[in-house]
Amino acid sequence: MSADTCTIGLLGHGTVGSAFADLVAARADDITRITGRRPQIGGILTRSLGDADAILAGSDIVVELMGGVETARDLVLRALRSGTPVVTANKQLVSRHGPELAQAAREGGVALRYEAAVAGIVPVVRVLGESLAGAQVDRVHGIVNGTTNFILSQMAATGATYADALREAQELGYAEADPTEDVSGADAAAKMAILARLAFGHWVHLDDVVFEGIEHVTADDMAYARQFDLALKLVGTAERVGDGLSVRVHPAFLPVGHPLASVDGPFNAVTIESAAITEITLSGPGAGGPQTASAVLGDVVSAMIGAPGPPEPHAPAVIGSGVASAFYVHLEVADRPGVLAQVAERLGLQGISVKSVIQDGLGETARLVIVTHTVSEQDFAAALDLIRALDVVRAVRAIRVIDEHFS
Ligand code: HSE
Repeated sequence: MSADTCTIGLLGHGTVGSAFADLVAARADDITRITGRRPQIGGILTRSLGDADAILAGSDIVVELMGGVETARDLVLRALRSGTPVVTANKQLVSRHGPELAQAAREGGVALRYEAAVAGIVPVVRVLGESLAGAQVDRVHGIVNGTTNFILSQMAATGATYADALREAQELGYAEADPTEDVSGADAAAKMAILARLAFGHWVHLDDVVFEGIEHVTADDMAYARQFDLALKLVGTAERVGDGLSVRVHPAFLPVGHPLASVDGPFNAVTIESAAITEITLSGPGAGGPQTASAVLGDVVSAMIGAPGPPEPHAPAVIGSGVASAFYVHLEVADRPGVLAQVAERLGLQGISVKSVIQDGLGETARLVIVTHTVSEQDFAAALDLIRALDVVRAVRAIRVIDEHFS
């Protein structure tokens, strides 16, 4: 360590870690001009190489890109407590251990930064934590998983089935051999927990986030979406509900004019709504070695110039109930007179108003596809139970519709 250099201890040397090491070398001259110190990688810890104790002791900044939770947690806590600033891209660590990490950072008098943990290079952590600190945020919607957005975009563009689009995502390297973390919504849930913390100033644990994945989306749903002028995305939502917060991830239809509806392929985007500012949308590559490494290096520069880290809340979130949504309902029914009336009556009993209906005869059976106006999720679930109990109904599935327009 010297006054002219900034020694970076790099924990992890996979796709992002090696891209980060390359980027530090490539950008060192410019960063020296910005910060007055030359960044250099001092030591690298991999699964089989490197001495963690020596790296922690000899670093001005620690960059954690190893993934996993327990080892990363131990090393990050030790670095913070001993007064070394830490930059991480580890969404699991940040979404599970926020208060403990913040306490360690306070003890060491340094900051933990995690811009790359959410939406890759899209600078949403900074925007929520700093630029929008003056606006009361009401809601955040995000497409925060590139793999699922690629799969859904391919299904919409080509009529492919979920299985075929997933296979293509794997062949192109977007999806892992085991895609569960992405397609189940779990990856997006961790990112939404972090965004909710920044948007509302309360700790939101990953376990507070309800999530559903895209595994059950069909090519039919995509075809009907086109007829209703809707786009189907895996959407994370964090919003105020009564005196609490609701943070959730699920497939949702968006009106084609919604800022997130046109975000296709492996891109990420986040829409932040506030009565004071209407909405802003940030979008860009949400993954990839060089892109994520760039977000990490941005955090390193912030640490080098001594900028404050993201604001940390002091109180846990109260998880609210009473979420409202519009719904798309897809029913396979017997093709007989009066069936549509029976279904409409069950919706009406729960005060649910129908916005549009498409009916297709298929011979013995018919398909009814209904889009409702916004209703309480509880009332909708009760109506769905009544509809499922009808003997003319063979299959039902429902997907939420985010019925918001901005002007
Ligand atoms: N697997 C994630 C995605 C990127 O597909 O967006 C890392 O969080």
